[in-house]
Amino acid sequence: MNLLEFPKNFLWGASTSAHQVEGNNHNDWTEWEKKQAEHLAADAPRRFEKTSPVWEQIKHQATDKNNYISGLACDHYRRFEADLDLAKQLGLTAYRFSIEWSRIEPKQGQFNEQEIEHYRELLKAIKARGMVPFVTLWHWTLPLWVSEQGGWRNRRTIEYFSHYVAHVVEAYKNDVKYWVTTNEQESVAGEAYFLGHWPPQQRSLLSYLRVTNNLIDAHRAVYPIIKALDSDAEVGIVNGYVYFDVEHRRALNRLLKSVANWWGYYYSLGRIGRRLDFIGLNYYFHNRINYWFSRNTNEQVSDLGWEIYPGGIYHVLKLLKRFKKPIYITEHGVADGKDKYRAKYIDDSLRQIHRSISEGADVRGYFHWSLLDNFEWDKGFWPRFGLIEIDYATQERKIRDSALHYAEIIKANAVTSNDLNNLTRRKNYARL
Ligand code: FCB
Repeated sequence: MNLLEFPKNFLWGASTSAHQVEGNNHNDWTEWEKKQAEHLAADAPRRFEKTSPVWEQIKHQATDKNNYISGLACDHYRRFEADLDLAKQLGLTAYRFSIEWSRIEPKQGQFNEQEIEHYRELLKAIKARGMVPFVTLWHWTLPLWVSEQGGWRNRRTIEYFSHYVAHVVEAYKNDVKYWVTTNEQESVAGEAYFLGHWPPQQRSLLSYLRVTNNLIDAHRAVYPIIKALDSDAEVGIVNGYVYFDVEHRRALNRLLKSVANWWGYYYSLGRIGRRLDFIGLNYYFHNRINYWFSRNTNEQVSDLGWEIYPGGIYHVLKLLKRFKKPIYITEHGVADGKDKYRAKYIDDSLRQIHRSISEGADVRGYFHWSLLDNFEWDKGFWPRFGLIEIDYATQERKIRDSALHYAEIIKANAVTSNDLNNLTRRKNYARL
């Protein structure tokens, strides 16, 4: 059996975001959840009955309004030491998390020292376990005073964000090398300002374009601020990249593909230009174009009904390679409550990533989404993305078998070249 080895010093990590795991936050999302929970619960059959293959198992939870309130989430705010112990047991060498702006600056210009101390403790705990921290400065939630002034639609938010970033980087610059300015700008612009699904639920092309541009400019604004505070810092942006494929090589399909790639890859990275040290890649979607978008065969889907298609990441990397920047896969994962697909998905995807590296893509790390089951935004708690399972009633943690498989890969710094049947093989894992 051949081993496909990854480069020396390749980072093996997992990701989380503050609002999805910490618990007891108070930001624009928490307010929105309170207002929307009942509606989201009532709307669940429309959203998930047809698309989710596990609807029968999850319908009770998905139609319960408590599912849509982040509340205590994973209580990671208090349990981070124990969670990081589990991460270390798995052999993880890096951990990506986000700082919650609303904790650090709950009122405009007022910085909360206790919360600054909290993340200092978190960083210390990551270091103590020999892991490299990747710190996201903004992962979707806003302090109320920012959202009340129009959120990212307001150009002044760039100034507010810059001020917050300068404060945070000054506080942690000795402990952090890798900074992610913003997470998946395009998702927020699309879902919150164009499709009207997420707070502030706007449906406007103008808002969408304005928010897209403000977020790109926010990255451009903070890049030199971070570099001035710490010239050794590595500053990147994380976007979600879709693999656009064409079903038939017809002219219209190819045109749509070019437009989608231009908008999804070239526009934002082009505008950011040299103000970038690495590209953060989140990969979840494959999109087969056939006279329009979103046509997939969906032979194998996750609990959310998202197509499981490991081949896509290879094509995404092929496009990103052209930007000649180091690439970190900052999120990649699957909603899979029964842990049926996760191990094989990790394996298959890593083979694709390995192939990209052998063809010249400068991929330097892989972060699985997520370390823990967590609060999946407007879908609530039922989708399970964790390497570690959470029993929300007791906050008990349990390492999933797929996580043990990931631990083996980390230990070997390699995947096998053959498509092993993990489902039978995983019975043989020595428990850590
Ligand atoms: C990504 C988000 C992350 C998580 C995963 C499933 O788009 O960045 O917070 O919700 O999707």
